[in-house]
Amino acid sequence: MVAAFAGAKYGVAAVNGTSALHISLLLSGVKQNDYVILPNLTFVASANSIKYLGAEPILIDADPDMWQMDLDLLEEFLENETDELGGYLIYKKDGRRIGAIMPVHILGNMCDMDRFLAIVKKYPLPIVEDATEALGTTYKGISAGNFSPLACFSFNGNKIISTGGGGVIVTNDEALAKQAKHLTTTAKASADEYYHDEVGYNYRLVNVLAAIGVAQMELLPSFIKRKKEIVSFYKKELTGVADIRFQKELPEVNTNGWLFTIQTEQQQQLLDYLNENKILSRRFWMPMNKLPMYNECIYINNKDNSDYIYNTCLSIPSSTSITDEELAIVVKEIREAIG
Ligand SMILES: Cc1ncc(COP(=O)(O)O)c(C=O)c1O
Repeated sequence: MVAAFAGAKYGVAAVNGTSALHISLLLSGVKQNDYVILPNLTFVASANSIKYLGAEPILIDADPDMWQMDLDLLEEFLENETDELGGYLIYKKDGRRIGAIMPVHILGNMCDMDRFLAIVKKYPLPIVEDATEALGTTYKGISAGNFSPLACFSFNGNKIISTGGGGVIVTNDEALAKQAKHLTTTAKASADEYYHDEVGYNYRLVNVLAAIGVAQMELLPSFIKRKKEIVSFYKKELTGVADIRFQKELPEVNTNGWLFTIQTEQQQQLLDYLNENKILSRRFWMPMNKLPMYNECIYINNKDNSDYIYNTCLSIPSSTSITDEELAIVVKEIREAIG
């Protein structure tokens, strides 16, 4: 159902989005000691899925307006700091292979995907889309998840549809779909015997949760509609309040409005005020280069926009179950705190 919704031919359910990313990278050929290019501003699971394969992220800073991977930095990096050798892309400084690139559709938004593809397609560089937050988002009418041979969605509790925990790999390639299914189900190669032909993973989605997912998929259009109402309400009501800014969206992008996030220099004051007033509000994820496992990774940046975004952005309540009255209270409290 998810594959059909996202316009892909095949979907392979997984226990969560992280495992879906892990298997997608593995099937893309990422190996121990490889690098994988990743935005610095993402949820830690994207980076962890790279580490599970013994590979290392190369972190690219966020662009200051859309908060996605900065395409200028990516282009410069690929042009100046990589070479092709034996059909592979290598990082010039140490000769290590760059096995893949993982764009992440941060907060359900997308970067200029035409430009992204034009940059990346010049190189032998497999793409794995971390579309975990972007179910229902489109770029020029094409769904997130259709810009790479393998892409992943998540059904974690906080996502636009949820099975409590769950995920899916989508692809248009039948062979990749079969391999993904094989690897996520302990690589069992015989229907009636416990014959496993490689080291597989127990990454299957529990069938009871899959049933919940089916029911959730039926509600997805109504969830997207509600998310869009929430986004337009907040944008209307918060425009001009103090220094509040919003994440930039390109005209080609129609986002699912997954998690509404505002930017203000008064982030800490607003966070404290909202949380004291029982309105759950959170900072952005801490950028990967600030986490102990990733602070030695190569980090491509000019101004460290990730740090600025981390220190100025906060997500505000945007669950599909929020009522109009509750939305009005959130706005009222924000105005009170910093308006
Ligand atoms: C950007 C991003 N990548 C990966 C994941 C991992 O998904 P899951 O929690 O289903 O493992 C999430 C969500 O949790 C995410 O937001």
